[in-house]
Amino acid sequence: MNKHIFALATLLIFLAGCSEKHGPQDLSKLPLDLEAGKVVAQNSCAICHGMDGKGVADNIPNLAAQIEAYLIKAVQSYDHGKRVDSSGNVMNVAEGLTHQQLRNAVGYYASLPPVAKAQSKVKVEYSYYERGKALSKPCAACHGKDGNTTVAGVPRLAGQHPQYIIKAAKSYHDGTRTMPSMHAKLDSLSAADMENIAIYFALNEPKSTSSKAVNSHEGTQFISSCVKCHGPSGSGDDLSVPNLAGQNVQYLNTVIKSYRDNVRDHKVMHQALSGLKDSEVNKIATYFATELPAQTSFAPPETINSLVQKCDLCHSAGNTNPDMLTPKLNGQNRAYLVNAMTTYRDGDRGNSAMHSISSAMLFDATIEGLAEYYSAQEAK
Ligand code: HEC
Ligand code: HEC
Ligand code: HEC
Ligand code: HEC
Repeated sequence: MNKHIFALATLLIFLAGCSEKHGPQDLSKLPLDLEAGKVVAQNSCAICHGMDGKGVADNIPNLAAQIEAYLIKAVQSYDHGKRVDSSGNVMNVAEGLTHQQLRNAVGYYASLPPVAKAQSKVKVEYSYYERGKALSKPCAACHGKDGNTTVAGVPRLAGQHPQYIIKAAKSYHDGTRTMPSMHAKLDSLSAADMENIAIYFALNEPKSTSSKAVNSHEGTQFISSCVKCHGPSGSGDDLSVPNLAGQNVQYLNTVIKSYRDNVRDHKVMHQALSGLKDSEVNKIATYFATELPAQTSFAPPETINSLVQKCDLCHSAGNTNPDMLTPKLNGQNRAYLVNAMTTYRDGDRGNSAMHSISSAMLFDATIEGLAEYYSAQEAK
């Protein structure tokens, strides 16, 4: 036999073997025995998914009334190692089970009525700004209610780039910056909460803390290198570089010295500031403090209510089209939804280019908001 034909024949036999054992169509082609499925569910799945198809703990999805073909696809992707759980573990749902048993168990769950919700359709109003405002109450004593501080030595956060606020807050915890004692509170904030706070402060109008001093021009000769990164007059478009214009003068003085003296650990800033005398630092601080502050150029993420309309184009009733099997999200476990969206965003759950490139999903706060919304809806 011709070598190529032989190779092709071997490949075809191999593929046929695969689809016999593992192929995507095989499970759904098997006959369904609901009673037998109930027994398998009892023995192998209920400890986590319940007999009513409601996940018994956070992170475990509800399976009741889910699109059957989607569930089949999901167990097969675990079985083939294409999908791992949110901690990167391979799920062994199929271990020790025949295909027929697995098919029956999945069919059993899909046949159940949806998990009942105490309340009917809940309207979730998730506003980044309002959440941030509520969460920022403990910050107000020092940073001011709207982020315009009136306390000497405390930085203004109003109008600051949110990406910078988030990064700066982190650096008090990872030890890059010495943490002011009251910042211990920041430790208990989730990433999503911190984003909401940052968005709140960023969207507030920044106000000057010092009026133009007669001697402010004295700093001009030292700042030509600074404006490359911090923007002309100390306000720029690079969201990771803080705006300096109109910042609290005492704070600028302290902070410039702490980079210079390596108290605040930052290579770039240390290089930019080393060799400056205290008197020169004061001139630079005065210069930036008296410049008019500008609002950050950051645009807040799309609102949850507007996003949901787009998601529901595919998700509202689920989609049984075999080319794009789409699970129902209403009434799903909140923590599980957060995990699922996070893994799409971070590229750890393949098969969904749409979810991973969606810039709306870049924010933890957006993922939290969407999970809060969907978990509160009545399952259908
Ligand atoms: C030890 C606990 C445990 C057992 C036992 C278990 N599961 Fe799961 N299952 C999970 C967890 C946790 C997830 C979510 C994993 C992730 O984040 O992807 C999951 C996910 C699933 C999914 C994906 C749902 C979706 O919305 O994408 C299906 C389908 C599923 N399990 C079916 C089963 C079946 C059928 C059985 C029994 C044969 C079973 N599982 C046994 C814990 C379990
Ligand atoms: C008791 C006063 C106080 C409270 C309350 C406080 N901070 Fe601060 N914060 C400071 C001081 C002082 C600094 C400057 C520390 C330094 O020198 O690095 C600072 C710095 C910061 C910075 C860095 C800003 C920059 O320009 O680099 C961020 C971000 C921040 N705080 C966020 C918060 C948030 C969010 C809260 C509330 C959850 C909060 N702070 C509560 C006093 C406070
Ligand atoms: C190469 C880019 C770059 C240059 C040049 C630069 N900076 Fe910075 N600067 C940064 C970055 C990035 C940060 C944030 C560092 C951090 O996370 O602590 C920063 C932080 C600061 C801060 C702290 C602001 C705050 O809110 O805590 C001050 C003040 C500052 N720079 C002043 C200056 C001055 C003055 C110069 C010129 C002598 C200068 N910088 C030059 C990039 C630069
Ligand atoms: C174009 C159709 C489409 C749109 C629009 C869409 N999705 Fe999806 N979604 C899918 C498909 C298909 C899957 C199944 C992918 C898979 O098998 O991993 C999915 C899966 C999911 C899952 C996993 C659920 C589970 O049980 O594991 C979540 C969560 C999710 N989408 C959330 C969203 C959110 C939130 C939006 C809006 C921001 C959205 N999707 C928009 C098609 C869509």
